[in-house]
Amino acid sequence: MKEHLKDPIFSIVSEEADQLQQACFVIGGFVRDLILHRNSKDIDIVTLGSGIELAKRVAKRLGPKTPVSVFKNFGTAMIKKGDLELEFVGARKESYTHDSRKPVVEDGSLEDDQKRRDFTINALAIGLNKANFGELVDPFGGIADLENKIIRTPLEPGITFSDDPLRMMRAIRFATQLNFRIEDKTLQAISDYAHRIEIISKERIIEELNKIILSDKPSIGFKLLDKTGLLPLIFPELANMKGIDEKSGVAHKDNFYHTLEVLDRIVPNTNNLWLRWSALLHDIGKPRTKRFVPGTGWTFHGHNYVGEKMLPKLFRRMKLPMNEKMKYIQKMVSLHMRPIVLSEEEVTDSAVRRLLFEAGDDIDDLMTLCEADITSKNAEKVKRYLKNFQLVREKLKDLEERDHIRNFQPPVSGEEIMETFGLPPCREVGEIKNAIKEAILEGEIRNNHDDAYQYMLNKASEMGLSPNQG
Ligand code: CTP
Repeated sequence: MKEHLKDPIFSIVSEEADQLQQACFVIGGFVRDLILHRNSKDIDIVTLGSGIELAKRVAKRLGPKTPVSVFKNFGTAMIKKGDLELEFVGARKESYTHDSRKPVVEDGSLEDDQKRRDFTINALAIGLNKANFGELVDPFGGIADLENKIIRTPLEPGITFSDDPLRMMRAIRFATQLNFRIEDKTLQAISDYAHRIEIISKERIIEELNKIILSDKPSIGFKLLDKTGLLPLIFPELANMKGIDEKSGVAHKDNFYHTLEVLDRIVPNTNNLWLRWSALLHDIGKPRTKRFVPGTGWTFHGHNYVGEKMLPKLFRRMKLPMNEKMKYIQKMVSLHMRPIVLSEEEVTDSAVRRLLFEAGDDIDDLMTLCEADITSKNAEKVKRYLKNFQLVREKLKDLEERDHIRNFQPPVSGEEIMETFGLPPCREVGEIKNAIKEAILEGEIRNNHDDAYQYMLNKASEMGLSPNQG
C-alpha cells in the first residue's frame, strides 16, 4: 500500500502522529477507492487520541496560512489543501439512540471504530505511523469483498442498519455505482428494516438517489429499491408504475421497467442530472390516466400533462429543488410526446417551428429524451423512428438558422401596436400580437420586424382598425 501514499501529506501526518505518540490510520472510502483505482479527494484520518490536536499540528506544518475547521461537538477537524480534504477524528465507539441519528460517543480502539462503519469495504484502514506505514488493517474481510464485488455489513446487518438507516440506501447506491452484489443477509436485512427509512431526512435520501441516477446503470439501484420494499416508501409515484393489466387478452407494457430502460438508455448521452430525472419522470402520469378502450386497447391520454402537474407536489415532498430545474423537468415531461407524434406524421415546417417555439433552448435535451424513449423490441420500428428523428433534428437546425424561433421574442411589441392604432391595453392588442406569432409559426411571414409590421397593418384593417393619424 505504501506506494499509494506518496503524497507528502501522508508523511507529514505520520511524523506528527509519531511525535504525539498516537496511532494513526487513513480509513474508509479513501482506502476503498485507492484499491479500486477510483479517484478520491476526501481523506479520513482516524487516530487513537485527539484528532483535533493532530489536525492542528499537521496544519502548522503545511504553512502558517493553512486553516483548520474544528467541530468540537463531534471531536473532528478538517483541513483543505488544494483539492484534497482531510478530516481528522479520534477513534470512536458509538452507540446510537434509536429514534434519531445522534450517537452517544466514547473513545474506542481502531477496531471499535471500524466495526461501527457501514460496510466491510468501507471499514479498511492503512497504518500511517512509521512502525506500520502502509500496512492494511482489515478485520472484516473487506479486501476479499472488494475482490468478489460484495457489499456486506461488518456487524450483524440489523445492528448496522438500525444505527443509521440511510445505510440501506447507501448499500444500494454502492451496489449500483460499483456494480457489486449485496450479500444475501445484508439484502434481507434491508427488506426487514426498510420501514426505518422514515427517520431519515429527505435531503439525505435525495443525495443517495441522485448518486444512483448519476451512475452508469441506474436501473440496478431502482430494481434493488423495488425488491427491498424501499421504493414505495421513498418514491410511491414510481412504485405505482409497476405492473401490467390485461383485459380482453390485451396487456400494456410495464411502465416501471420501461422507465428504467429509458433512464439507462439516456446515460451515455448526458451527464445532466436533471435530464436524467426527466427520463425517470417522463411517464409518471401514466398510472393516473390509464384506461381500457374496447377496440383500441390501453390508453394513457394526457399522461404528459398529468405528469407535469404532479411534479410540484412530488418535488416538495421529496425536497427536490422547486426552481427552474423543476420547470425544466416539467417542460420535458409535457413535451416528451411531441417529437414522436411529429415524426409519425409528415414532418412539416410549421410543426417543427411550433416545437422549437415551445422547447426553446431545451430542444436538444428534449430530442435526447425522445430518442432514449424508443424502447420497442421491433427493430424495424426503432429504425424508422430514429430516422424520422434525424429528419426532425435536421429540420430544426435548418429552421432555426432561417427563423430564429428558439428564443422567440415578438418582433412587434404590444406597445408598438397600441401606439400605432391609438389603443389602450385591450383584447384587440392581444389578438393582433397572437395573430403575428401564429403567422410566423405557420411560416406565412418571416420572423422580422418589417414583415410583422406589414402583417399587423393588414390584420388590423380586417378588424376595422386604422393607424393613428395624430
Ligand atoms: N460511513 C458510515 N455510515 C454512513 C456514512 C459513512 O459508516 N452512513 C463511513 C464509511 O466508512 C465511509 C466513511 O464514513 O467510507 C466516509 O463517508 P462518506 O464520505 O459519506 O462516503 P464515502 O464512503 O467516502 O463514499 P462517497 O464519497 O462515494 O460518498
